[in-house]
Amino acid sequence: MPEIRNPTTFPDQLLAFRQRTDRTLLHFIRPLPFHDGDLVASMRYGALLGGKRLRPFLVYSTGQMFGISQNNLDAPAAAVECIHAYSLIHDDLPAMDNDDLRRGQPTCHIKFGEANAILAGDALQSLAFSILANAEMPDIALSDRLAMVSELAAASGVAGMCGGQSMDLGAADKKINIAALEQIHRHKTGALIRAAIRLGALAAGSSGRAALPLLDSYGAAIGLAFQVQDDILDVIGKTENIGKRQGADQKNRKNTYPSLLGVDKAKSKAWELYQEALAALNTLASQSYDIAPLQALATFIIKRDN
Ligand code: IPE
Ligand code: IPE
Ligand code: MG
Ligand code: MG
Ligand code: MG
Repeated sequence: MPEIRNPTTFPDQLLAFRQRTDRTLLHFIRPLPFHDGDLVASMRYGALLGGKRLRPFLVYSTGQMFGISQNNLDAPAAAVECIHAYSLIHDDLPAMDNDDLRRGQPTCHIKFGEANAILAGDALQSLAFSILANAEMPDIALSDRLAMVSELAAASGVAGMCGGQSMDLGAADKKINIAALEQIHRHKTGALIRAAIRLGALAAGSSGRAALPLLDSYGAAIGLAFQVQDDILDVIGKTENIGKRQGADQKNRKNTYPSLLGVDKAKSKAWELYQEALAALNTLASQSYDIAPLQALATFIIKRDN
């Protein structure tokens, strides 16, 4: 695929990388067998029908800071989005959040039934690792590819997203403190966001690894800010904008930043995290890295209404 070259505004950049990610995902889903069956239809539905593609944007933006070309980053970008899509399909299931609307459409299990939704999540997870193990990354060392596989696995499993989802469900209906909530959010959402950034850095080998501590502080801050804003939007967002039923967290008696602190303090928390993210980026900028896309994304994360 030809490289995307410097679209001027952030919305244009986001759009260009969203389209690139969609093309890449299709490229990997198209050759799958049983293409006219319900399983692949459910996977396409869950992975391709909408979504902001922020995690792929992070992979591309971080990799490009180290001079890695987009064709080397397509695979990790698609892989992290497959994990994300799987996590959303399962998150919406009756046994989890029991939601019927996602990205403005019926959720995967409403459209295709629970069994297909469960299997679509499972198969998207496998696909993520097939992509990362097999897809072309012409300039990436095998050892770096292996590190990326390990990174994505850790961020998806018990030490990351799944662990956080389990804690989130376990805490519903219970009174927990803010430290416990932070722990949930850093795992269920933060881990995969941080991993997207780390995948972009790992693609660059030793230069990327040297920047990991600063990238991790940026990633941890925007990862948590992202879920704080998601919680806020559940309270003050509009169903038409968020594409999910407003008020779902309250219905499920979830612990969220607004439920523990109120909306105003939750907004202040998101702002503090944003400042933390910017501080890490400023240090990277002083080392001559182009941090503009990561900065624009951080701003988007706390200002977004969808
Ligand atoms: C929603 O993530 C789920 C959370 C981790 C809070 P996104 O808001 O990135 O979902 P899409 O992919 O854009 O629909
Ligand atoms: C889910 O958090 C995080 C995931 C790992 C999918 P939420 O349950 O708040 O996400 P939404 O609001 O349904 O998108
Ligand atoms: Mg949930
Ligand atoms: Mg949910
Ligand atoms: Mg939510």
